[in-house]
This record gives sequence, C-alpha cells and structure tokens, in this order.
Amino acid sequence: MKEILKIENKKYAYQCLNQALNMGLNFKLEKNFKEKNFNVDNLNDLLDNPVEGIELKELLKYFEKEIIPYCSNFSNKNFMGFPDSGNSLAGLSGAILADFLQQNLINSSFCAPIATYIEIAVIKWFRELLGYKIIPINSIWDVGGIITYGGTGSNATAMLLARENFRKNTMINGVNNASDYKIIVPKGINHYSIKSSSMWIGCGNNVIEVETDNYRYNIQELKKVLLANKGKIMSVVSYVGDSRTMTIENLKEVYQTVKEIDKNIWLHVDACHGFSLSFSDKLKNKIVGIELFDSIATDPHKVLNIPYCISALLIKDPHKFKLITSTSDLIMQEDFAWGQVTPFIGSKCWISLKIWFMMKNIGIKKIGKIIEQRCEIANILAHKINNSKHFILINEVNINAVVFMYVKDKNNLKKDIKKINLLNQRIYSKMLEEGIYYLHSFSLPDDRGIMEKGAILTPLRFMSGNPNIKEEDLNNILNYIIKLVKELEDNE
Ligand SMILES: Cc1ncc(COP(=O)(O)O)c(C=O)c1O
Repeated sequence: MKEILKIENKKYAYQCLNQALNMGLNFKLEKNFKEKNFNVDNLNDLLDNPVEGIELKELLKYFEKEIIPYCSNFSNKNFMGFPDSGNSLAGLSGAILADFLQQNLINSSFCAPIATYIEIAVIKWFRELLGYKIIPINSIWDVGGIITYGGTGSNATAMLLARENFRKNTMINGVNNASDYKIIVPKGINHYSIKSSSMWIGCGNNVIEVETDNYRYNIQELKKVLLANKGKIMSVVSYVGDSRTMTIENLKEVYQTVKEIDKNIWLHVDACHGFSLSFSDKLKNKIVGIELFDSIATDPHKVLNIPYCISALLIKDPHKFKLITSTSDLIMQEDFAWGQVTPFIGSKCWISLKIWFMMKNIGIKKIGKIIEQRCEIANILAHKINNSKHFILINEVNINAVVFMYVKDKNNLKKDIKKINLLNQRIYSKMLEEGIYYLHSFSLPDDRGIMEKGAILTPLRFMSGNPNIKEEDLNNILNYIIKLVKELEDNE
C-alpha cells in the first residue's frame, strides 16, 4: 500500500513530499496576492464524495492547478492588509517537523517527553521579554503560560481565569446571575473575541464598552463605569495594538485606575500584536506597564512570521492556573502534563516548535531589528500620506498600522463622510476583485476628529509584518489606488 509511509516506499514518499514542498514554495513566492477569484456557484464541483482515490502525485498536480490559484497569499509582499506573513524559514521548518514528529502535548511522560520542555522554554522566553517574573520550574504550575491555538483561545482562557478569580468555584457551581460577571472593554476598537468568550463561558453578553479618546480608554469614563458597577466587574481588558489602529493603551494609567477602585478585578491585556515590541530594545519602552497586568495574550502567528496557528497566554502569577484546572484519569497526573492546564484543548500538536525554531534561528536581537524595520515602514507610509493631497491619515501610528482614506484633494476637502466612505469602499472592492494588492477595510469611529469626531468611517488600512516590503512598494500601493480611482471615475 503505497499511500502509507513505510521503509519500502521511502523514495516515493520523498518524491511526493518534495513535490508538495515545491508547490508551497512556489505559492509563497507568487507575484500577486491571489491569482483567481473562486465563484461560489461552482461549490458543488468540490463536494463530490471521493469514492475512488487519486494517486498522490496526480492529486498534488490537480491541487496545484485547480485549488492553489484561488488561495490568498499572506506571504506576498503585495498583501498589505495583515501582518501574518508566515514566511520565516525556520518557522516553516518547525511546522513541517511538528507534523512529522506527532508529539501530543497533553501528557509528558510517554506523549511528549522532550516537546513539553521545549514548550516551557518558549513560554519562559516570552515571559522574560515582557517583564514577568520567572520562578524555578518544578512542574507545569510554575511555568506561567500556556500555548493555545490563537488569540481568541488565549483571550477566552484569560476570561475564564478572570471569572474564577472573581467568583471561586464557578467551574463547579456554574454561573449564578450572569449580569454580575461584567467585562469592560474600550468602545469601537475591542476585538470580538472578548464578547464571544464571555458568552462561551456562561457569563452572557455583559460586556460594557467604555468611551475612548484617540483609541484609548477615556480614563474619566472608565472611572465612572468602574464605580457605577463596583463589585460586578470581573475583568478590564486593554489593548497593546487593537485590531484596527494598533494603538497602544496608557497601560499604567489603566492599571492604577482599576486597582485603586477594585484590587480583585482581573486586568487582561490583549497584546496579540504589540507584544512584538518587547523584542526591540528601542521599542520596548512603548509597552512599559504590561508586566503589571494579570494576563497577556500574544499571537506569534500574526507578528513573528510564524505559520498558523499559535498563540501564548501568559499570566503574572503562574499558580493562578490552578483556578481553571480540570483533571481526569485519562490525563496523567504528572508534574509536567500540559493537559491539566489547557482548557478547551485535548490532544495538542507541538505548535510551539515553530516559535522555538524561529527564535533559535533569528535570535532575539535580530527579531527586534525586524520589528523596528516593520514599524519604520509604517511610519514612512504615514509620512507619504501626510504629504500627499490625495490621502488623509486617520490614526496616530503606534506600531505597524496605517489607517487612511482617499479623499481626492485634502486641501479642498468637503467633509461629505458618506461620499468619502463610499469611494473608499469601492476602492476596496475593486482591489479585492483584481487580486494584485490587498489593504484591509472595516468600520471605525473617528476618535481623533480627523473628519468629524465620532463619525463612522470605512477607511483603508495598511498593516504588514512582511520584512520584504520596501519603500518602493509603498509608492506602488499609493499609485495603484490613484489609478483605481481614475478607472472607477472613467467607468462612471
Ligand atoms: C487584537 C486582537 N486580538 C485577538 C485576535 C484574535 O486572534 P486569532 O485570530 O489568532 O484568534 C485578533 C485577530 O485579529 C486581534 O487583532
């Protein structure tokens, strides 16, 4: 049976895997971010049951021709909407090897005898970078972090910790009166995963959105809400790089405000994006105060050029993980069985190997330089936008996101927000259709009063984590937008 790996078909296996590897490399190095748009009317063609198998080399050929052209390529340097480029060679090597090695990080002794300790090393590195204390590690309970499948998983686990910290044994007794388990988030910029987490863990939709200024908490408003709901707030969530503008919260101010009013509130910081600044000696001062928070969510698959899916949740007091442990005789009751501290996860692939490879390969110092270069590219684009009459900058660039709008001529600007929004949406749709470049788009309150304070804008957003992007690519994308607008006007 040549479909299953064995000594006798090693050569065939090598050829197939080599073919797959080549396809992957070719895809990552493609010119455009997408070759073709898949038409959902053809969905039925994909749904036929695979009753008879196809020989693997043939199947790979079919996949390359019929499926890959429809994939979005986040590694392409024209893909400027998200930073998740996944193009670290060591990260890719770790991803491939993790699948080959098939270690299961639910248990240590027989499932993942060394992988367990490699995962501990990765978490320790992150804790140290972010300024959390390291204690001697004698068991899983001393590590102070877990690996999850994404920022959403880390945020959900943080909210579970907040809930148990707030009302001990809710795990056992269940939630009594969900509206007493409130979570505070900044209005307009929070990530949906917090509200979803609250609902997933039985606390209902009791998330309070607090007014913001320049995409950060308005501290007076935060105080008001804290006092009005005293005793009924389990967590306050802050962002070090919110999903839209990448603004960094005034961390120390939020910490002091919250802890002065109620010491028991769990302070969580979603640093899925901004934790990357901790690698740079030059930029880490921007996130000072992060180490005061009870938990930190990080998303290496977004910001460290690591392939999907991997996130790490870190907590200040490692022993607090005991609050959310659940054991079974199917999980080994051994000192280093990760399965005891990973809610929502059973068998777990050695995903942290991707980070281990990348960090060992590039090293903290050089990763810091990559992050600096990434931020610098965003600053250069912001500068170009400020100097162009066609574009208007919406956010203050804190990390690597540049939010902007095409406005034709900003020196003679009629602030017809409806019309400007519509034009930018049309630019976005055309860009998506053409598949040459990608910038992201979403709705965003105008929190800095660039057009009109509080108005809802639908801007374009540049954000990249791809070290291959150079200044000329920034000129190209701006010229491309100007060209698109001309084409749109010509077709009117
Ligand atoms: C700030 C922030 N937090 C959390 C998430 C969720 O992360 P993931 O997609 O890895 O679950 C995102 C995703 O974009 C994000 O931007």
